[in-house]
Amino acid sequence: MKKIVVLGAGGQLGKALQEISTQYGECSFFFKSKKEVTILSKEQIKKLFQEKFDVCINCAAYTDVEKAETNEKEAYAANEIGVSNLVDVLLKHNIPLIHVSTSYIFDGTKNTPYIEEDTPNPINLYGRSKLAGEEIILKNLKDYYIVRTSWVYSKWGNNFFSRLTKNIAPEETILAENTQIGTPTKAEKLARSILDLFVLNAPYGIYHCSGSKKMTAYTFAQKIVKKRNLSNKIMIPNATTLKQVAKRPVFDVLDNHKINTFFKKHNPQ
Ligand SMILES: NC(=O)c1ccc[n+]([C@@H]2O[C@H](COP(=O)([O-])OP(=O)(O)OC[C@H]3O[C@@H](n4cnc5c(N)ncnc54)[C@H](OP(=O)(O)O)[C@@H]3O)[C@@H](O)[C@H]2O)c1
Repeated sequence: MKKIVVLGAGGQLGKALQEISTQYGECSFFFKSKKEVTILSKEQIKKLFQEKFDVCINCAAYTDVEKAETNEKEAYAANEIGVSNLVDVLLKHNIPLIHVSTSYIFDGTKNTPYIEEDTPNPINLYGRSKLAGEEIILKNLKDYYIVRTSWVYSKWGNNFFSRLTKNIAPEETILAENTQIGTPTKAEKLARSILDLFVLNAPYGIYHCSGSKKMTAYTFAQKIVKKRNLSNKIMIPNATTLKQVAKRPVFDVLDNHKINTFFKKHNPQ
């Protein structure tokens, strides 16, 4: 029985992992929310790893892209220092790390999907703080999976994509941006890929793992409205109504070839 501990388990990916964990009978799971273990506290991490685990999945992160611009300290605390605290303890106990990162480490100026080896160049603070976390892992660990993803949505999340897939009041006008191209990623699908990488013993390294369909937020909104038979009006916001402080990569698309090739060779459940 493989023992898996999940940190940041109260977030949308953590909850998705929790939901699908029952399908992985060969593993036992230990879910820790921020209240139970904060990665800001090395003491709490040390205490947790007095127990032996086979792998640690880190879903803990500062994820508010907008607020990060003015909360630099908090963003770096979770996304860099927290990762560093975790890495120190995992190294000591020889425990592999599965860390979740983001397509926002790239600048979005390419016009073909980003591969794992592309050079990062984040254009917002969240992206820079997440890259700082990746760099700590790359510098210190050999046994790691860094799984980069993008535009994650789920029934638990509170982001643009999640909100659309939940309840929208019929009178609500949906404001949806139409220049940034990305690939919405269902949290449950991401969770499954993360567990399968580990269970199937994939070679350690960086993996891109996102949805397969390129679209803008506007096209996503159109699809959801149509699929759910809603009558909401969808509007493209102008710079004032959009109110975005953080810059976003225009072409925010990851190339999933590496992970897909691995899963084609090894049959995930
Ligand atoms: N959502 C996306 O579109 C997206 C895209 C690309 C990559 N990612 C990455 O995917 C991972 C999971 O994201 P998500 O969508 O599940 O985000 P989420 O819903 O915001 O979950 C993140 C969780 O981490 C917790 N957390 C924050 N600081 C912590 C700390 N110091 N110690 C322990 N837990 C802490 C948060 O708790 P509180 O809410 O109580 O602060 C929250 O429960 C993150 O690494 C994120 O960077 C997400």
